[in-house]
Amino acid sequence: MKKIVVLGSINVDTILNISRLPLPGETMAMSDRSTAGGGKGANQAIAAVRAGAETSFIGKIGQDNAADFMIDTFKNDGLNIDHVTRDQQAGTGQAYILLDDKGQNSILIYGGANQTITTDDIKRASDTIAQADCLITQFETPLESSVEAFRIAKENNVLTILNPAPAKNDIPEELLKLTDIIVPNETEAEAITGVKVTDEPSMVEAANKLHTLGVKNVIITVGANGSFYSVNEKNGFVKAYKVNTVDTTAAGDTFIGYFASKLSSDLSNIEEAMKFASKASSITVQTQGAQNSIPLIKNVEF
Ligand code: RIB
Ligand code: NA
Repeated sequence: MKKIVVLGSINVDTILNISRLPLPGETMAMSDRSTAGGGKGANQAIAAVRAGAETSFIGKIGQDNAADFMIDTFKNDGLNIDHVTRDQQAGTGQAYILLDDKGQNSILIYGGANQTITTDDIKRASDTIAQADCLITQFETPLESSVEAFRIAKENNVLTILNPAPAKNDIPEELLKLTDIIVPNETEAEAITGVKVTDEPSMVEAANKLHTLGVKNVIITVGANGSFYSVNEKNGFVKAYKVNTVDTTAAGDTFIGYFASKLSSDLSNIEEAMKFASKASSITVQTQGAQNSIPLIKNVEF
């Protein structure tokens, strides 16, 4: 069985259903509100475990009800949470998601306990990292902990996947050099490279810039327009599935968790892994909410 470690954020998402974004100074009624488990790191770990990988999570929560709710979810999914710890002061991470009728979202994040992860926490998880096939992280937890985790991974020949989300333009060179595969969406790719990603030539250009920055392999996801790869010196494109989109929250996270669980260590099945990942994320977008919408492998296999 494939062993995956995810270092990242845990959030409770509050989804506010609105017809459109409010204007400055406007008071507006929402049509509904609900909560769901979220956080990019936790979503990716849940996608990996639902895809059938043996998955461990490194993260931090608070001492509040939100933390208990998230722990229950993780246990239900069979995620290894030996390295999910509780901060004494900070609250569990929260996200407020404004979701309009067209499935477009705007997200506000309270980092909370996610921001208290230290390099010591990572060092305590070093055996778990060393024994994995693959380590995944994002940008909702402190950067220095990601760098530490990637260092340990590379010392132990573990494949590193960086999802540079939310978008950020000042990524430390060391982190990029320690990255085996970077998986940005079009916005995140533009933030790093300055290249506006619209079509295949611009994807090639952005990927080449990322290679120049020291990243070996690149995958750029462009939502309903599919995904592009520049891996092992080969370029290609994988189409997305056409579905009725209700909420794109966690679509990218589903892609990453499923992709990592399917990928062979020599990356030779890159297209197959991407197709599998995009099938899974096409299911996620058809239901509102993050973790509750991430499919089980039996609903993805074809
Ligand atoms: O990628 C989606 C996630 O981003 C949401 O679940 C929310 O918590 C934010 O972290
Ligand atoms: Na969803």
